[in-house]
Amino acid sequence: MKILTWFKPTADQLHIGNYLGAMKPLMNLATAHPHASINLFVASMHAYTYDSMHTPGAINANTLTFLKLFVASGADLSRYLIYDQWHIPEHTQLTRTLTCLSHMGMLERMHAYKDAVAKGKANEISVWVFLYPVLMAADILLYDATHIPVWQDQKQHVELARDLAIKVNNIYGDVCVIPEPIIGTEIGTIPWIDGRKMSKSHNNFLGLLDDEETLRSKIKKISTDMKTVDEPKDPDTCNVYAIIKHFLTSDEQENLTKRYRAWWLSYKELKDYAFETLWKTIKPIQDAYHAMDDSTILKVVHQGTEQAREYAQKKIRHINAAMGYHT
Ligand code: ADP
Ligand code: TRP
Repeated sequence: MKILTWFKPTADQLHIGNYLGAMKPLMNLATAHPHASINLFVASMHAYTYDSMHTPGAINANTLTFLKLFVASGADLSRYLIYDQWHIPEHTQLTRTLTCLSHMGMLERMHAYKDAVAKGKANEISVWVFLYPVLMAADILLYDATHIPVWQDQKQHVELARDLAIKVNNIYGDVCVIPEPIIGTEIGTIPWIDGRKMSKSHNNFLGLLDDEETLRSKIKKISTDMKTVDEPKDPDTCNVYAIIKHFLTSDEQENLTKRYRAWWLSYKELKDYAFETLWKTIKPIQDAYHAMDDSTILKVVHQGTEQAREYAQKKIRHINAAMGYHT
């Protein structure tokens, strides 16, 4: 079993949504599949499809921040082959071949492009927003990955990778491994106080690197209903609960929801508890992050990229030979 997964270095600050929705699932993957090899690549070419990532150095800096926080959160990097696709030109090379096998109609059905068309923005997106499902197929097929963990939104892209692999095999013989999606159970969206997704924009996030005071004051600002201390409250509609439940054991969740439904739980007390709960998780991550040496992480990426590139080069040679282009 060879699992292939990724992170997209688009964020210069990571928040608890990224921690729960991206880092934790990556760690769980290693635990759930102890014997699998796991390719974890930096989707830097995908990140570059965002206009905001055109600032020199941004993608590298974000990559380092992600990996340092990933390790600080408890990840064991030795469980993954970590590499940056930017430095492996074979990704582009295979993409080029695959684009010739992809029809416009196939790509026009891909959701990112369809969304842009629906919003009347098709002329404003970069060409690679249209093409990135093919780059994704190349990311997968280049390494003979057998399993791709994705949420529902990326399933369509793994299907495209399968279709392209089958097409290549039909023309050139058994060259590509046909990948299988593993559809993960989503933790759901971690909301911000207004019910929208917690995200970096508009400063609406609880950051993994927020200091104690910033975190406390952001939690204080989480909006709640106007119920007074002596009224029972509903955890299921409470923004504070929606955030902190992910950091509580099931016993703690049960105790807290009982307290909501009874009396004498003030929102002030609840927010103090939310702060303590989050800080207990975040503080050790910050301590580990600040103690970490950048060069150790950079070395892991560098070595991983060399190893991955060797694999990719062999694969391209194999595909070229099957196509009749011997070197
Ligand atoms: P994008 O959502 O465009 O992929 P982000 O930087 O917003 O990029 O998030 C990276 C990953 O972190 C997402 O794919 C998702 O898994 C996770 N994530 C981000 N925000 C949240 C959130 N509010 N709730 C749950 N998961 C989140
Ligand atoms: N396109 C994916 C995203 O936007 C990231 C991605 C790039 C990916 N290449 C991949 C996912 C290969 C799975 C396999 O989140």
